[in-house]
Amino acid sequence: MALTNTNKPAPPEHIAIIMDGNGRWAKQRGLPRTAGHSAGAETLRRIAKHCNTLGVKYLTVYAFSTENWKRSQEEVSGIMKLLRRYLEESLRDMEKNQVRIRFFGDLTRLSPELQQLCRETEARSQDYKVQMNFCINYGGRDEMVHAARAFAADVAAGMRKPEELTEDLLATYLYSADVPDPELIIRPSGEQRTSNFLLWQSAYSEYVFMNVLWPDFSPEDLDRAIEEYHRRNRRFGGT
Ligand code: FPP
Repeated sequence: MALTNTNKPAPPEHIAIIMDGNGRWAKQRGLPRTAGHSAGAETLRRIAKHCNTLGVKYLTVYAFSTENWKRSQEEVSGIMKLLRRYLEESLRDMEKNQVRIRFFGDLTRLSPELQQLCRETEARSQDYKVQMNFCINYGGRDEMVHAARAFAADVAAGMRKPEELTEDLLATYLYSADVPDPELIIRPSGEQRTSNFLLWQSAYSEYVFMNVLWPDFSPEDLDRAIEEYHRRNRRFGGT
């Protein structure tokens, strides 16, 4: 096991988080659900900073799923507003933070302004080494359909042959192309489901489920999840 210079085991290179429990957090306080998401966005800032301090190279967060459009118009536009604010702040502080931002998901359903902001953030941050991936209008099944269509289009255009398709080649058509699979996936809030998150990439991930709502999730909770991950014995199907 690789050790850091403090003799602690090195953290996972890639951590993914399902930021769950914002609604319940707000309800417990008699606040609108959007207040929960707003607190969740602040938690994200703290946790992203802590990941950076620990030396985690990739952080992927589930911010909006393909199913989340079923929520009220008020809640959907509240989350989009938070995303816009988060990206504007990231652009402003980009040189200080040095974090590359990417998006996993079908952005074409977002407003043209937000799509433009996403593209600008990706382009301006592309040379930084530490990376944060926002899953927006993301679904694991949708990602596979999108990849299958893109491959089929390349076959139809004569650029690929069906028999060329391997697991490695298919992975290059996913939103997560070039990003290693997450070693650790954390889901707070007490729910124990994958909810269509990183279905392909999670084949060998360790899941840690925690009984804390996302707005209350602290850097110490992240440390605990990483400790739990180090206690697991990853065998990748071997003995
Ligand atoms: C799930 O909790 C959370 C979401 C669907 C939205 C996540 C969004 C944020 C954390 C806001 C920050 C986002 C950005 C892009 C900066 P839930 O609402 O389903 O909680 P519940 O299960 O308690 O109702």
